[in-house]
Amino acid sequence: MRGSASAPGKAILLGEHAVVYTKPALAIPLPQLRAVASFRPAEQPLTIQAADLPGRSWQWGAGDSSDPLGKMATLSLRHLGCDAPKGEITIRSAIPIASGLGSGAAVSAALGRAIAALCHVEIPNVELNALVYEVEKLHHGTPSGIDNRTVVFEQPIYFQRGQPIESIRPPRRLNFLLADTGVPALTRETVAAVRRLLREEPERTQSQLDQIASAVDSARAALEAADVFRLGAMMTANHGFLRDLGVSSPALDTLATAAIQAGALGAKLSGGGRGGHIIALVEADTTWSVRQALQTAGALRIHAASLGG
Ligand code: PMV
Repeated sequence: MRGSASAPGKAILLGEHAVVYTKPALAIPLPQLRAVASFRPAEQPLTIQAADLPGRSWQWGAGDSSDPLGKMATLSLRHLGCDAPKGEITIRSAIPIASGLGSGAAVSAALGRAIAALCHVEIPNVELNALVYEVEKLHHGTPSGIDNRTVVFEQPIYFQRGQPIESIRPPRRLNFLLADTGVPALTRETVAAVRRLLREEPERTQSQLDQIASAVDSARAALEAADVFRLGAMMTANHGFLRDLGVSSPALDTLATAAIQAGALGAKLSGGGRGGHIIALVEADTTWSVRQALQTAGALRIHAASLGG
């Protein structure tokens, strides 16, 4: 059997970093930006090639690995009880790497699904989610689990570690633009930096994390009421809190400011920060001018995303 399996990228609307410390956060899948794992049967033991992910390949028999691709492959095969897999998997991803859009989780999820298909078994999302979370530890150190949950189930969610996940449905279409600074940044490093700050300046850092988290419930209400003005204002305020926490960068600040000056209802960094993307909330009639402004301000790539409607 040949075919393909895929998973989308994701963006965090509100609450990154605080979510690592069991605060709630909002995230959305990005269905147009996907990692795709094409698979086909072969006489040889399983090989995996990931052309877009530099230097990444894995072969059955290579044993346990600290590389995300190898770890996902070995975990999936073990979990599925598939001990002599044959076939070829090729992974291609349109999701920029190390830029806050959940590329690592999407690649793992697509790979897990392709391996299950080659092994002729179903893998329920709940089980796939748990495997991808294990691999996320290599990318993030101490992941909250928001990336894998959003990517595997492909639903907008209100996420809080250890609590039942709630999916969100806005009553009308909401439009976003994602703009890439072009600066790769490792989430593991920004998460570690915040953890250091919590150790060194606990009171100040805790209150910044509380501020980041404080808007999440009302932003969810705004999202569910499609109150774009309130949601946008909260996103922009959240960017300020993340900047105070030290996870923004001049390039992220420039793009967020450019989006707002051009008419976006709100804009903020999305994901680990210090590089990667901003997310801007736009109305249909300002999308073009915000896109132009982001380009002029130096965005390397711009993607549109929408929710509901
Ligand atoms: O940089 P990303 O897209 O992997 O998002 C990370 C979000 C954080 O809250 C910073 C970390 C986490 O595990 O939730």
